[in-house]
Amino acid sequence: MTLDVDLEAEQYEKHREAGRILARVRDEAAERVEVGASHLELAEWAENRIRELGGEPAFPVNISVDEEAAHATPGIDDGTTFGEEMINLDIGVHVDGWLADTAVTVDLSGHDDLAAASAEALDAALELVEPGVETGKIGAEIESVIDGYGYNPVVNLTGHGLGHWQQHTPPNIPNRAVAQSAELSAGDVVAIEPFATDGAGKVSEGSDEEIFALETEGSVRDRSARQALEEITERFRTLPFATRWLESRRPEMALRRLKQQDIVHGYPVLKEQDGRLVSQKEHTVIITEDGCEVTTRR
Ligand code: CO
Repeated sequence: MTLDVDLEAEQYEKHREAGRILARVRDEAAERVEVGASHLELAEWAENRIRELGGEPAFPVNISVDEEAAHATPGIDDGTTFGEEMINLDIGVHVDGWLADTAVTVDLSGHDDLAAASAEALDAALELVEPGVETGKIGAEIESVIDGYGYNPVVNLTGHGLGHWQQHTPPNIPNRAVAQSAELSAGDVVAIEPFATDGAGKVSEGSDEEIFALETEGSVRDRSARQALEEITERFRTLPFATRWLESRRPEMALRRLKQQDIVHGYPVLKEQDGRLVSQKEHTVIITEDGCEVTTRR
């Protein structure tokens, strides 16, 4: 059988390199999560470690706690520390715009089985991945494993394709059985990320927002907003970034203006209801001729 894609091509080598760097940083970062440790120090440590190993962060290190599922990252001068909580670390690396994306739960709350539910769902999903598999079948498997633990998958968060300088491209990989679905093909690079919860399984937007991305090109008159826009376009292109990453002056005010003009959009923190917990596990894979290669596994 011949493939119409060359999995030895440079872009795949860069995906693999991003995955190798990321797998290491994820594990090292997870070891640093302990009661009393600082969110901001951990995020900055991991982001710097990525650079030290030859990659760039593909998005700000996400540190989601308890009912938070995604898009939480420390703000400038954030003093938050870890408690006896369920913590999800979601980290991304790119090498020349070719991405890897991974997540793991570090549970300090005593709910091992909830963390195990998303981890086992991911393992089961990865077993199914090969050319021609429908994404809905992967979702059904994820749902069934999490259901077996007595929990719910978060149905309005999905896995996704990874494009060049793009963190979310089609196809979506659902976390439940859905009728209509795309098929995976050899050469696709996708992130699969089951979320399990003891809540209803549907997250909604909170009010905090620390992660942003360029939406469209545009021009602004305000000087600090213009400087920030130049910096964003040059350093991050369309990849997500954190307020604390901006070196330009008065970043918070600049971002407010860029948002008002729809040049930049924010990612509000996504959460389950208060008092509920969310676990998450994620790997990035390259679809091969007869299965998949997990780039973010050590
Ligand atoms: Co992802």
